Amino acid sequence: MAQQRFTLIVNGQTHVIDADGQTPLLYILQNDLALRGARFGCGLAQCGSCSVLVDDREVRACITPLAAVAGRAITTLEGVAAWHARRRDLARVPDMHPVQQALLEAEAPQCGYCMNGIVMKSAELLDQNPQPTEEQIRAALAGHLCRCGTYPSILRAVQKAART
Ligand code: FES
Ligand code: FES
Repeated sequence: MAQQRFTLIVNGQTHVIDADGQTPLLYILQNDLALRGARFGCGLAQCGSCSVLVDDREVRACITPLAAVAGRAITTLEGVAAWHARRRDLARVPDMHPVQQALLEAEAPQCGYCMNGIVMKSAELLDQNPQPTEEQIRAALAGHLCRCGTYPSILRAVQKAART
């Protein structure tokens, strides 16, 4: 397919991208915009390592075509703290999203590969449901694979973030 021009709004900044509209959003974020928080894992929407928010909902950037998100509000790991501050009407942007802070305090990241998706999905969950039950957290994160198996620490961290 021929290249076309698209306008992307990423973390509140507007970018003009010339590319094939079927190009996965993940490639555009990493290669054109140098935003590398979202990771390439499976490339098949199975692991969650590539997750971003589009219009405040988590999507898998590895299978999302550029053309599908033109003009929509995209939030990546790099912008999730500012997104959280805006959604909660906070006076200042924290250094990290509360989930990021709690994950670090729980020493949940091992290799860290899954953490982008864990943060983005948890951020979406707490935005929609600030006091989720354990079952709701488990259900939300069921599609996010952590090959290091740090699920207990991740669960505790999301629960702590909800409390704070
Ligand atoms: S890389 Fe997108 S879900 Fe695995
Ligand atoms: S910390 Fe290694 S994949 Fe989750």
